[in-house]
Parts: sequence; structure tokens; C-alpha cells
Amino acid sequence: MATGVPRRPKRKIVTNGQPVQLSYPGRRDAVNILATAPGIFEIAPITTKSGRANRLYFGDNLSVLTHLNQDPAVRGKVRLAYIDPPYATQTVFHSRELKHAYEDIYEQCEYLEFMRERLLFLHSLLADNGTIYVHLDAKMLFHVKILMDEIFGADNFRNCITRRKSNPKNFTRKQFGSVSDYILFYSKSASYVWNRVIEPWTEHRAREYQYVEPGTGRRFMKVPVHAPGIRHGATGGLWRGMKPPPGKHWQYTPEALDEMDARGEIFWSKNGNPRRKVYLDTNPGVPAQDIWMDFVDAQNQNISITGYPTEKPYELLMRIVEASSNPGDLVLDCFAGSGTTLVAADMLKRRWIGADNSPEAIRTMLHRFQHGTQRMGDFVKKASPQGVLFEEEHQARSILLHQVIEDFICFVEAGKELQFPQGDG
Ligand SMILES: C[S@@+](CC[C@H](N)C(=O)[O-])C[C@H]1O[C@@H](n2cnc3c(N)ncnc32)[C@H](O)[C@@H]1O
Repeated sequence: MATGVPRRPKRKIVTNGQPVQLSYPGRRDAVNILATAPGIFEIAPITTKSGRANRLYFGDNLSVLTHLNQDPAVRGKVRLAYIDPPYATQTVFHSRELKHAYEDIYEQCEYLEFMRERLLFLHSLLADNGTIYVHLDAKMLFHVKILMDEIFGADNFRNCITRRKSNPKNFTRKQFGSVSDYILFYSKSASYVWNRVIEPWTEHRAREYQYVEPGTGRRFMKVPVHAPGIRHGATGGLWRGMKPPPGKHWQYTPEALDEMDARGEIFWSKNGNPRRKVYLDTNPGVPAQDIWMDFVDAQNQNISITGYPTEKPYELLMRIVEASSNPGDLVLDCFAGSGTTLVAADMLKRRWIGADNSPEAIRTMLHRFQHGTQRMGDFVKKASPQGVLFEEEHQARSILLHQVIEDFICFVEAGKELQFPQGDG
């Protein structure tokens, strides 16, 4: 058995504590990147009601981030950044209405420098207790992880979350089906905003509570009343004439164990072994782990979406915004797409800043802010009794998801033009 602290072998390479760096052609100095001239923006001629809290930018997000980095109300004040950038897929994306949305045709090194430029500014914009989530697929995940270790510090890496993005595929390719993508989660420092997420019990997990208490009907599981390690105080001594098993101690003092027993919380086996009852109804659920199974992309006709390509599920963003910010905090998404992050932030009473350089993305967001999302299927238009029923369900869901957002300023990058659809402004 391995014991003790292994002796560190003599180092052959002098690192001076320098982090691992990704090297690629075209990599610029961080100082030069951070000296990029700030983008210039004009307020767009669409009306907003009180519009002061939130901002929607149409323009290249490097211009947006450089511009925000000059703004004392934003620099160092962003509590949460979520980004879902292109993934270097070599694909041109169109909406469900076949409108051109955006191009993801970066070559590898170009992609890495594109990401690094933006991550450097995002680091500067984040509050000291802020966090960043970067959504990627497996292609560039490992490269970007190294960039983020460099920029945010490897110690501030919190999770690589695996999201199940789709149901199993039935392709006959000579490899396993790809049903996941990934979210890199970093904090800016060791102390950051975190609201623990509890997942409600699933029937499968609840089955672990296999015993039913006679009389009360409460479901419980049995756990030991002792734990590893020798103690010399009360928890190492006798309880009801018994010593803890060799090498262990009681988890509670004898007095506390007596009180539990009096409350009926100790289960005694036929051989007289005590076990503690843990009741299902005293636990709201299980803390969320780093594999997320419940947020697959829209795949059935009942799901409400905008139709913008690569749109992420609203519930996924609700989880992230709830976990890593509080009401009133500033949330930033500079690859906003259909505006999922912004809507989730708005719903949860956070302030938000969104940006995108695709006119189709801005059009989609403005429409979403006014009219919400639409059911993916089109059979609601059928006048069958079933169709009517579905339509009613859909409307109920739309009301849940649809919140009119009017409190924002829209900015347009100097030199760009945007046609605002009639009725969406
Ligand atoms: C994967 S999509 C984001 C989807 C979004 N998470 C959603 O739920 O709808 C990436 C978005 O980044 C935008 N984008 C790509 N490069 C950009 C850039 N340089 N500046 C601003 N937006 C950019 C694209 O137009 C696209 O809308």
C-alpha cells in the first residue's frame, strides 16, 4: 500500500511557475490585443420604454468588448458571462426560414486567436467574483481550455460540464454517436457568486430510499452511524454498551444518538446493529453534477423556439444564470444569437448586455422580445380537434416563456446598417 508523501524528483526543466501556453501561428501579444482601439457605436432609432438597464449591440463583438472595456459602469462589473461562439465547424448556418444567419468557417489558428482576443477582454470585464461559461463542442474544447487556463488561471477552472444535446443517433458511421457538447466554467478568483443548484428527485434516484417506515409511510434509506477514523473523545467511546467498529468513530455524540433514537430515527437490525434513517422527504433533491442530461436541443414539435440556428434551450440558460448571478447583477453574452441568455437573465431580474454581428440574430432577438418563441411544429394550424388541443397547450407554454422585453437600448456599430422590421421596434 502506498503511504507517505512521495519525494519530488529533481526538476530537469526550469519553468519559473509559467503556465502552459498554446503556441500557434498568428498569436499576438496580449498587451497588443488589449490595446485595440475601442469600437464606436450609435444608438439605434428604435424606441424603448425606460431603456436604461440593458443593452443590445449589433456589431463585431471585439468592437463591443473594447467599447465596454472603456465604460466604468461595465468594466470589472460583469457578474456572469455566458458565450456560445462558433465552434470552427466549417458550416454556414441558416434559420428555419432559410435566412442566412452566420458563418462558422474559421481555420484552426485563426479561430484560436479570435477566441483569445475575446476571452482577454471578457476577463477584464468580469467582476472579481464573476464567472464565465464557454459553450463548445469537442473539436476546439481542449485548445480553448488551455487558452482559458492561461487567461483565467488553471486554479479558477471549475467544471467542464457535459451536456446531452440530442437523443441517440442511428448513423452507421464507424464511431460512437456524438450526443454531447461541453461548457467550460471558470471563475475570475477563488471567491465567486454561486447559488447551489438542486435537481429534484427522479424516480430512479428516489428508489435508493427503498424502505417505508411503518406508521408514517415515510421513505428512507439506512446509512451507518459511524465513520472512518479513531477519535478519543465522546464519539470514540461507548454508546449503549457498544464501541464503534475498529478504526471508526460514532458520527454523533452518544447524547445526540440517544435523541435520534428517541425520535425513531435509528433503525436497529435483528442483530442489534444501529443504522441511521435518512428520509426522502427531508432532501429536496441532489446537487446538480457536471453531466447535464435534461437540456437537449429542440427536437420535437411541442418545443417552443425562435428558429435561429444553434439556439440553446432556455432552461439551460436559466440554470446557469440562477447558479452564477443574483437579481440586479449584470449578465453578458456577446455571441447572443437568438437571445436565449438575455431572455433568461431578464426573466430572473438580472441586467443584461447582448451582442451579435448577424442582422438575422438581431432581427430574431427583437422579434423574440416582442412576441416570444413559437412552437417548432406547424401542425397547430390544422383545424383538427387534436390540433386545437395542442394549440391551447402551446399558448400556455408560450405565456410561460414569453416575456415582453422593452427595457433596453439598441446600439449599432458605426458604419453598419440595420433594417428594423416594422412593428418590432
Ligand atoms: C452558436 S450561435 C449562439 C446561439 C445562442 N446561444 C442562442 O441560444 O441562440 C453564435 C452566434 O455568434 C455570432 N457571432 C459570431 N461571430 C461573431 C462576432 N465576431 N461578433 C458578434 N457575434 C458573432 C453569430 O452571428 C451567432 O449568432
